[in-house]
Amino acid sequence: MSGQDFWWARDDLGFKSGRLTFAGQDVAALAQAIEGPVFLYSSRRAAANLTRVREALAQVGRPWKIYYAMKANRSEPLLKAMAGWGLCGIDVCSPGELDLALASGFSASAISFTGTGVSNRDLDRLLAHPDLTINCDTVGMIRRIGERVPGRAIGIRVNPGRGTGYGDNARLTYAGEAVTKFGIYREQLAEALVMARAHNLTIRTLHFHVGCGYLGAQLEAWEAAVATGLTFLDDLPDVTTVNVGGGLGLPHRAGDQPLDLGRWAAILARRLEGRDVTLAVEPGDYIVKDAGMLVLSVTDVELKRDALFAFVDGGFNLAPEPAYYDLPCEPVACVPRSLDPADWRPVTIAGNINEALDLWAERHPMPPLGEGDRIALLNAGGYSAAMSSNHCMRGGFTEILLDD
Ligand SMILES: Cc1ncc(COP(=O)(O)O)c(C=O)c1O
Repeated sequence: MSGQDFWWARDDLGFKSGRLTFAGQDVAALAQAIEGPVFLYSSRRAAANLTRVREALAQVGRPWKIYYAMKANRSEPLLKAMAGWGLCGIDVCSPGELDLALASGFSASAISFTGTGVSNRDLDRLLAHPDLTINCDTVGMIRRIGERVPGRAIGIRVNPGRGTGYGDNARLTYAGEAVTKFGIYREQLAEALVMARAHNLTIRTLHFHVGCGYLGAQLEAWEAAVATGLTFLDDLPDVTTVNVGGGLGLPHRAGDQPLDLGRWAAILARRLEGRDVTLAVEPGDYIVKDAGMLVLSVTDVELKRDALFAFVDGGFNLAPEPAYYDLPCEPVACVPRSLDPADWRPVTIAGNINEALDLWAERHPMPPLGEGDRIALLNAGGYSAAMSSNHCMRGGFTEILLDD
């Protein structure tokens, strides 16, 4: 197999002279210089992903805004780089994220807050910024904002009761047949409007985020969710912005096709026709996930019964999505001892956490591996470091922003 035949290879990621390179750098050489797990991020790839979404939005024919969802990756050098590009605003979901966004160089008017379980203490911190967009997830949140700052502009997050996610996975579907904690349901809308009116609040933003990781196979379901979400506009005459959330997916496995942004934009154009609103989107994963990888070292290679295990020095606590959501990080040997598939064997790659689910991949075809080899786990740029824990006190890692 040549170095560029792998499903995940692209211009800035692949084998050169038998060594994995990413953003023009030799991955094993970079990792070698650092003790323990290393996340590598490419700012150029993140910028390219952002630019692709911007170009698609320009096709929709409505004014538009992008808020990068920083819950996906809050590495400070990356956030500062993004603020410097001036290509997007930022979506935050907690006062801590708000403070970090401000400290990274985003102004309050470029920040949109959509959170859940928002406390009064949270609200006091959010409401200190009059230019911040705040989308309310509950009727109670509308009331509590109204009690504090009557007359303010607000947004409401609604739950259209329809949604979708990667592989139609119910755990990645935030609005669907099963009731979820997110957003105000249609049958609550009248109460929400009464509450807003009682406090003279103006509802300027309609927001819905209906799931994560959708690809082409899910676009029909996504369109149905968007269409249902937009029906809320009929009762919201003051809305000037419709935020359709994030959730744009990317390939995780061989066979997954990249999301067709042309189709995605055409859905938005079709559904927004005749609606005099600004379109907002808040993708996280699509911007950063394939702009990052986690590089680990092999500690042992051992046959246990009929399974060949390669143990590595980092576990699922550093990148929980494969274990929680079945969103795998493709394992790639950084300096494969062979690129000939005839030499590859099924290998189970296990982390260093005392939990049975701590497996990066099961019986995955890999070249021969030895102690000290580096393995890159691709697509670890989103919801990895940001979601990591110190379980088993193995939460340490280094993050490096490349090509900034
Ligand atoms: C309200 C909201 N917006 C945006 C996002 C970003 O989603 P993604 O990273 O899948 O694009 C999320 C993710 O959970 C979210 O809850």
